[in-house]
Amino acid sequence: MNEHLNNQKALSEIQDTVAMAMMNTSRRLVTAVVDFQELLMRYTCALKEIQTKLEVLNTEYNVRMRRNPIVSIHTRLKQASSIMEKMERLGVKFSPANVEQTLNDVAGVRVICSYLDDIYTLADALTRQDDVTLLRTKDYIRTPKPNGYRSLHLIVSIPVFFAESKRNMKVEVQIRTVAMDYWAELEHQLRYKQEVPDEGEITAGLKACAEEMAGIDQRMLDIRRRIEECSEKPTEDEILLEKLQKISFKVE
Ligand code: GTP
Ligand code: MG
Repeated sequence: MNEHLNNQKALSEIQDTVAMAMMNTSRRLVTAVVDFQELLMRYTCALKEIQTKLEVLNTEYNVRMRRNPIVSIHTRLKQASSIMEKMERLGVKFSPANVEQTLNDVAGVRVICSYLDDIYTLADALTRQDDVTLLRTKDYIRTPKPNGYRSLHLIVSIPVFFAESKRNMKVEVQIRTVAMDYWAELEHQLRYKQEVPDEGEITAGLKACAEEMAGIDQRMLDIRRRIEECSEKPTEDEILLEKLQKISFKVE
């Protein structure tokens, strides 16, 4: 009888321990999910900050240059599965802190510009802002990738202010012309196609297209500059008048 009671007690203790362990495991799991969600939320806010900065620059240049250097801005958050895959590939244990420390491209902004020189004008104006820290530059325009890929890549860090904290967040900014974007989009699609026939010829063909497009970018810039040289420079008064016409005061 005594032995039966002892067994019952032991069994109940084991059940309690298992239940506790399960609760701890699920709590840890839920905590990890919440922390990860929070991290993605912080990156989403960082994307908004960068997007606003770029839109402000575009608006200002619209008044100054009388044209928009930015054609479009696209933002994207890296998918959770791609984040996990990249962490595994790099051999780093998956945790929100490690993701933040290791990856530079969880938050990505792609800026499509009209002309080649707009890319550097924008990059300089963005990185000169005193809350923007430039962590790394990869200039695939001055030094294109062997396959012909061209773009200016910046890794920047910006502070994002939350209710109770300020966090510096990293964002990858890719700046390219419409022509560079057209090539990169199609090349990206083609890379995922299976059974590419005559790999060498295709690679050489793509590279030749990239070079032709780079030539067109340069020619379009030359044409714009020639037009700018010919057209009479507006007087100070004309600039002032144009600014006045563009500014509309909204009284809410
Ligand atoms: P990732 O690990 O892919 O992020 O590369 P990385 O850290 O060496 O960065 P890199 O600056 O070289 O490239 C980052 C991003 O640029 C990629 O995720 C693509 O969006 C784009 N990119 C780079 N190379 C190519 C290319 O050859 N073709 C296309 N279409 N896009 C490219
Ligand atoms: Mg990447």
